[in-house]
Order: sequence, then C-alpha cells, then structure tokens
Amino acid sequence: MSPAQQIARRRTLAIISHPDAGKTTLTEKFLLYGNAIHLAGSVKDRKAARATTSDWMEIEKQRGISISSTVLQFEYAGCAVNLLDTPGHKDFSEDTYRVLTAVDAALMVIDAAKGVEAQTRKLFEVCRRRGVPIFTFINKCDRPTRDPLELLDELETVLGIQASPVNWPLGNGPTFRGVYDRLDAQLHLFERVAGGGAYKAPVKVASIEDDAIRAQLDAHSLAAATEQLAMLDGAGHAFDLAQVHAGAQSPVYFGSAINNFGVELLLRGFLRDSVPPAPRRSVSRHVPGLPAPTSAAEVPVTHERFSGFVFKIQANMDPKHRDRIAFVRVCSGRFTRDMTVTHQRTGKTVRLSSSHKLFGQERETVDEAWPGDIIGLVGHGEFGIGDTLTEDRSIFYDEIPRFPSEVFAYLSSASPAEAKKYRAGLAQLLQEGVVQSFHVRNAPSDTTLIAAVGTLQFEVVQHRLRAEYKADSRLSPAPWTLLRWIEPHPRLADLSSIVVASGVSFGHDKFEQPIVLFPNEWTLNYFEEKNPELKLHALPLEQ
Ligand code: G4P
Repeated sequence: MSPAQQIARRRTLAIISHPDAGKTTLTEKFLLYGNAIHLAGSVKDRKAARATTSDWMEIEKQRGISISSTVLQFEYAGCAVNLLDTPGHKDFSEDTYRVLTAVDAALMVIDAAKGVEAQTRKLFEVCRRRGVPIFTFINKCDRPTRDPLELLDELETVLGIQASPVNWPLGNGPTFRGVYDRLDAQLHLFERVAGGGAYKAPVKVASIEDDAIRAQLDAHSLAAATEQLAMLDGAGHAFDLAQVHAGAQSPVYFGSAINNFGVELLLRGFLRDSVPPAPRRSVSRHVPGLPAPTSAAEVPVTHERFSGFVFKIQANMDPKHRDRIAFVRVCSGRFTRDMTVTHQRTGKTVRLSSSHKLFGQERETVDEAWPGDIIGLVGHGEFGIGDTLTEDRSIFYDEIPRFPSEVFAYLSSASPAEAKKYRAGLAQLLQEGVVQSFHVRNAPSDTTLIAAVGTLQFEVVQHRLRAEYKADSRLSPAPWTLLRWIEPHPRLADLSSIVVASGVSFGHDKFEQPIVLFPNEWTLNYFEEKNPELKLHALPLEQ
C-alpha cells in the first residue's frame, strides 16, 4: 500500500459525551463490530482490571471515574480507525480538551431522554473551534425518549449546528423497532435478542413500502415516523457533505448502543462521510540550533518526512515500571521504530525506540505508523505537552490551545525532609503541564500557586508527588476564580496607582508576563471599569 493510501484509510476520532450517555458502551460496540473484541463487555472488564492493578488508578477507583486516556485502534471496512477516549466527569481536566486536538472528527453521544447536557456542550465547543466534523448519535432509544424532532431542535438552538438526520427512529422506548435510513430509503429492523447485546444484533433490511413488513409494525409508530419524515423532507436540512466536513452540519443517527441497534449504521456512515487526516499548520518560532525561525505553512500529510506533536503525557500507567508515556499524533511522513528525530523545543536529537501502540492497558510495540495514528513513547522525561518531534527541522507545531484556569490553590511540601524530592517532582509535573503555576505577590512563603481547569488535577498532583516522588504535599485554598493577563503598560510599574476591589492580587507567569487574579466576576468588571487603559486577556499573550 502506498503512503497516500495508508493515510487515506485512516480515521482518527474521539467520542464526546456527558457522563452516562453511553460513551463506554458505544466504544465497546465499535470494537465488537471491528472484530477487535469478540464479546462485548470486555472494555468494562478491562476498566475494572486496570483499577485493581494500578495504583495510578487509585483516584479513578475512589471516585469511580476515568482519568486516563486510552487509544484504541481497529480495522473496519478497509479503514484503520484510531479511537481516542476523552475522560469524562464534571471535574474533568485540560487533558480532556487536549485529546481533542489530536483527532480529525468527533462523535457526540446524546442520551435520548436528556438531550444536550453540560459537558457535551463544553466538549462540543472545543471541537467546533477546531472546525472538525461532528457526528451525533442519539442513544438509548430503547427507553422512553424525548420527541426526536425536539432533540434535533435542541442541537440547533443550544449548540448552533445544523442537524441532518441520516436515519430516523421507528417507535420509542419499548416500541423501538429500528430506524429508517433516509439516504438509502430502507428500514433497518432490529431484533431484540437475549444476551444483552453481547453479540452483533440481527438486522432485517426492508423497504418501507413493503406491505408484509408494514403489517408487522406497530401502526402508531409507523404513522408517527411517516409524519415526522414528511416534515423533515419539507423543512429539515438536506444532508450536505461539504457542510459536514466544514463542521457546520452534524449527521444524526439514532439507536441503542447497549442493544447494538444502529451501531453498525453509525460506524459505516461515520467512516464513509468523515475525513482522513487533515494537514496541520507549522508556525513561525525560534528553535534552538536553527539560524532562522521556522516558517508558518501548512504541512501536507503526504510530506515525506516525519512530524508529530505530543498532546498528552501519562505517567505511572503501570506501577511495576513507574514509567511515563508521551502520546504523539503523527502528522506527516512515516514513523518507524528507532528513528532519529529532533525535539524542536530543545533542539536535541532523540532516538524513538520505545514506541508502543496501546490497546487499553495492553501494549504492543509499534514498528510503523502513519499520519492520523497515535503512538505512545515510553520514557523521554524531556518531552512536554505540545512539543514537536520531527525529521524536518523547518516544522514547529503549536496545536495545543490553553484554557483559562478556573481553580487555584497553594501547594507546599508537607515536610522539610522531603522538600528536595517535592521540588523535583513538582518541577516535572509542571513541565508535563499537569497544572500551571504562577507567582503572586504576598503569597505565603514556600508555596507555589497552582491553577487548573478542574480540582481533580490538584488531586492528581498530590497523588503523583506521593506515589512517584515519595513527597507528601499540602494544599490550601487560594481565594481566586479568575485570572487575566495584562498587556504591558507603563502603569504596571507602580501597582499601587491601580484601583482594584478588595481581594484582587497581582503576579506574573513563568515567562514574567504580568497577571491579575480576581475573586469573582464583579471584581473583574470593577477593574475594567476603573482602569480602561489596562487591557486584560483570558489567555496568555503570544510569547
Ligand atoms: P459513559 O461511558 O458515557 O459514562 O456511559 P456508559 O457507556 O458507561 O453507560 C452509562 C449507563 O447507560 C450504563 O448503565 C449503560 O449500560 C447504559 N446504557 C448505555 N447504552 C444504553 C442504551 O442504549 N440503552 C439503555 N437502556 N442503557 C444504555 P449502568 O447501569 O450505569 O451500568 P451497567 O451496570 O449497565 O454497566
């Protein structure tokens, strides 16, 4: 197979959803249809096995949530599918968002009884900003659902995306019998079988005009679906592939993941209408060891030389090895084990020998990978989130967006005897991007102000300091909820001249850029009102 063919058959996606909508179940069913597992249920078993064998997963176990991100690869209909897990919980972290920078499309799972929920909305926004195609699966149609037309309306009004149903449910809850495929005008009737969806569901495909089939169906469901379909034909959005690719229209599928209803139609439709790996942009940066900055340009996926970026770092996945894995999204060229690349941030040459493909917790050495694939590189303490690895030194990716921190706390060593280990551990975790740190004026001595998107990251820091560096730490609350960067201005030379409400503090980030911290929205508004000449930014200014 030529490199172009290898790339064209790759599909790299993440499933986004609010907890409990059915992401894990759907993942499991994709693997079942991709013949990667033979009996659905194994993913959950893996989840359980992992929680009992790894102490990194201790927090997961205690909280009953999934922190780690796994990458699953399987083959289906000639496509090599890379499915990235987005850990989900109300306390989810920047990691969840970052995973989305590595995918070319997203699949949004919605609970048919609940509609669009809070976390779906946040994750959707991140995907939309990247402009990737977003497919929708309305799950749990085997239970009483909300009116499907109302659900479509919600996608349009709450998320602001055109919703174009590819298929339509026949029946609702106990009367749910299947879906009508609007593209090929066929009914797909599912048969409920014993065994809880452990095997592929038997499906009968028939014409909706077939009288023998119509006679078998519930008259009320048939009448309702016929009426709704007529409405959609008249007033709905016609399926438009160009709009789907632009991220402006979402193809909508209905089904029930647990029963395997509609799963295969979704998978096939997704692979057909989704996109192969898209080119990434190289930005202009000064790179150590190069005389001139890199140039801003699109890097074609078919570019011969290897390039990729680190989008996630996971440490301590296997307590027996105490290792660290940098997950890299391949963007161009062909990755081969043992190849030598440049780590652009430091300008150093590194050999990529410990490369792995991960299937849940199991590792398999990977000898070759193509654009769209995700590889796990073991070791390499010098790699940080966002780093570019490449054979072509003119490429520098800046793919990882930063997200405004919403929680702040002071961290300190719990014991002077462990202070050295504590400092080394914290420096490593900051480099990995687990949390951010800031200097704030008048901070308690020997503390570091740390910030994150969710408090779960603080627990992760404390847990890892203890588990990996044998350093206990102390966390104490810091009174702010908002952080802003201030554009350089002469008035910053004399902070006492700046009018602020009580509780507001000044400081700087690790690049010495001035910041200001606010306890709440009101104090921020007050600051802007009183100091209109000082321009505030929710994200750091370009370095
Ligand atoms: P998540 O990863 O998005 O958090 O959701 P997950 O797949 O774990 O599913 C959440 C719950 O919803 C699970 O039930 C799961 O069995 C159920 N579920 C998933 N798909 C369907 C569906 O199509 N129909 C119905 N009726 N239920 C569905 P649970 O009771 O929390 O777990 P379990 O004991 O069944 O494993």
